Amino acid sequence: MKKILVTGGAGFIGSNFINYILKSRDDYFIVNLDKLTYAGNLENLKEIESNKNYTFIKGDITNSELVNYIYEKYKIKHVINFAAESHVDRSISGSEIFFRTNVIGTNVLLEASRRFEVERFLQISTDEVYGSLGATGLFTEQTPISPNSPYSASKAASDMMVQAFHHTYGLPIVITRCSNNYGPLQFPEKLIPLMILNTLQNKKLPVYGDGMNVRDWIYVIDHNKAVELVFEKGRLGEVYNIGASNEMPNLEIIKLILQNLKKGEELIQYVKDRPGHDRRYAIDSTKIQTELGWRPEFQFDSAIQKTIEWYLQNKSWWERIISGEYQSYYQQQYLSK
Ligand code: NAD
Ligand code: DAU
Repeated sequence: MKKILVTGGAGFIGSNFINYILKSRDDYFIVNLDKLTYAGNLENLKEIESNKNYTFIKGDITNSELVNYIYEKYKIKHVINFAAESHVDRSISGSEIFFRTNVIGTNVLLEASRRFEVERFLQISTDEVYGSLGATGLFTEQTPISPNSPYSASKAASDMMVQAFHHTYGLPIVITRCSNNYGPLQFPEKLIPLMILNTLQNKKLPVYGDGMNVRDWIYVIDHNKAVELVFEKGRLGEVYNIGASNEMPNLEIIKLILQNLKKGEELIQYVKDRPGHDRRYAIDSTKIQTELGWRPEFQFDSAIQKTIEWYLQNKSWWERIISGEYQSYYQQQYLSK
């Protein structure tokens, strides 16, 4: 039985990971450490909360006393670090918490991992550390790190600490860098759930700039299957890019959502661009495909349909979210400028 500390497991990707992994295998015991920020939601885990191979601890990865206690108590030898402040717009409004959680928090985990001699530390990173692409080209693992937003700079800094612990102390680490995820349980600050929920409520759809920024979309289960594979078989010290070769301009996705929900394009509203907005992301995932045999399994057309269906069928999940602190975030981000 592998005892795995999963951090940030109540967020979008982490909760999808835990739900998937506990249903598909019985050789993992998961200790989920999550601070339950605005983005963490235990409702995401209700299907597995009483699983005998699962326990939840509410806490902050920057709290080294707590982190050390958990490593000791659960004899942690494996770590998957999903915990992060993850939204670019929020990092533009205030960077400090991004530095604290993403950089200092990762460092606390690295120090404990060194002390307790963990056998594998998987850092969940992002393609945003590579910066922005022009009209052509793809991010490979050799692309130089060149982050542009406070969010991506904090993720790049934590990646570099992870690599430094490998180089300096021989800590057995691996890093994944994935492109934009979509799917069930995503917090409605991110493009796809925001556009779905606004469309359902007949609210304006705020498009930054000309709407032609390109992201490379991957269904969250494809990402998580890649995470499982890298965690099990990835070569220590290595970085693996993850992407499904599905580049799309934002406007195309928004129109598709409108069509799907049978609403008109008059809901689209062009708003002030995101400062420092990266133009295009696109991933070359040759390495994980050839070395580890990973392939994306979900097609965008059917997986986006599945995602829209999920939001239609889980109204109480998102109604609870948008009735809380979200309203003041929404006001500040979209209505007060
Ligand atoms: P999310 O914002 O939905 O979830 C983050 C989770 O981390 C939440 O449950 C939150 O409560 C928890 N958390 C935040 N600060 C914490 C702290 N100090 N201590 C403990 N827990 C804390 O994020 P997500 O979209 O699920 O992203 C998960 C990871 O994947 C992040 O590291 C992110 O950088 C990375 N990533 C995300 C995407 C994407 O498209 N969403 C793509 C590539 C990589
Ligand atoms: O590439 C991986 C990254 O993808 C992750 O590391 C981040 O955690 C995740 O948030 C995501 O970052 P993006 O900035 O690409 O995602 P977001 O959903 O915020 O925006 C996607 C695109 O949509 C981007 O070009 C900005 C645009 N956008 C976004 C919002 C929220 C709009 O036009 N209007 C909006 O209201």
